[in-house]
Amino acid sequence: MSAERDIFDRRHYAAVRRPLLDAETLPPWCYTSDAFYAREVERIFRKVWNFVGSVDQVPSPGDYFTLEFAGVPVIILRDEEGRLRAFSNSCRHRGSELLSGSGNCKLIVCPYHSWSYKLDGRLDVAPEMRQTHGFDPGRYGLVPIRLESWGGFLFINFDAAAEPLRSFLGDLPERLAPYRLEDMFCVRRREYDIACNWKLFVENAKESYHIATVHRSTINRYASARMAGYWVEEARGAYVVTFAQHEGSMALLKGDAGFPKIESLDGRREAGGTTAPLIYPSTYLACTIDCAWYLELHPLGPDRTRLIHGALVPRSRAGRSDFSEIMANYYKRWDLTTEEDILASERQQRGLRSPFCPPGRFSHREPLVHAIDNWILDRVLDPL
Ligand code: FES
Ligand SMILES: [Fe+2]
Repeated sequence: MSAERDIFDRRHYAAVRRPLLDAETLPPWCYTSDAFYAREVERIFRKVWNFVGSVDQVPSPGDYFTLEFAGVPVIILRDEEGRLRAFSNSCRHRGSELLSGSGNCKLIVCPYHSWSYKLDGRLDVAPEMRQTHGFDPGRYGLVPIRLESWGGFLFINFDAAAEPLRSFLGDLPERLAPYRLEDMFCVRRREYDIACNWKLFVENAKESYHIATVHRSTINRYASARMAGYWVEEARGAYVVTFAQHEGSMALLKGDAGFPKIESLDGRREAGGTTAPLIYPSTYLACTIDCAWYLELHPLGPDRTRLIHGALVPRSRAGRSDFSEIMANYYKRWDLTTEEDILASERQQRGLRSPFCPPGRFSHREPLVHAIDNWILDRVLDPL
């Protein structure tokens, strides 16, 4: 495509910048181009707070897990003092990956030449390095990555100059306080590797237009766009949010048994409905009357994304004798609709690959797709 040479020219995006009902959708190359993806990594994922899971994944000292986020291999661990830490998962000798998967350890020992690091990142032992001139072990600790948490969730940031997590999130913690996320635990994390650009899954999560078609035999039965509204609320922070008004739990198919309402809910939330923010750039969270769930997205390339569905329920439900039986009802709903959304997003990716796929237009039910796409352009394009 000749446009490939200058895909960052602002003129290509003038129509996306118009108000919703006059706007066009993003040009298809935004979902397929290596260069556009590389800009997103550099100017978005390496700059913001990225959601990387639940505190529950590392409950005890020495617990760790690893992940690759936006091209960076990362270790998340709890040190001997109980402090949560993140490090670049690269040995300071000649760069080997240090840990893989998840587990518990007392020291991090490199599998290549056995340099070993304490859980606070300091280099502990480096065999046969005495003869190396001027080698100071104090200068070869693991490279730390910023890590902060809120509501039982872990976030990392690769930018030393970034604002603290709390100011990034703005008033979101306050808005979600009635759901008491910190009193919930993560019952299950289910991973999917999906063949689409990360933005497609994010856009899908924040529009109600597709519910009548994609979820016609699931969500549409109890929370259709017309019935539930999916009202966009004002957000002060790096997120957008909707409130859907409906009866029962958004996390259950009609008629299935669930847990009681969250006791701390009040007013409109107690009356029934779901608050669902998208924390920029790629974390969807849904809080409904009896539980919550998240969709954590790790971008892997222009057309590959890792999706993790996290299931959260109040800790107090864990002791129930029917816990597993009831959880199966939630899993049924989540697994069905997640598959429906994956199919839709992968199909969309295949269509967008066509050289004969010009930009489209938005309906009035897609204000947040438009808002999210413009948020991305604000960062990917050079300032005027
Ligand atoms: S690369 Fe880690 S000890 Fe050599
Ligand atoms: Fe959906």
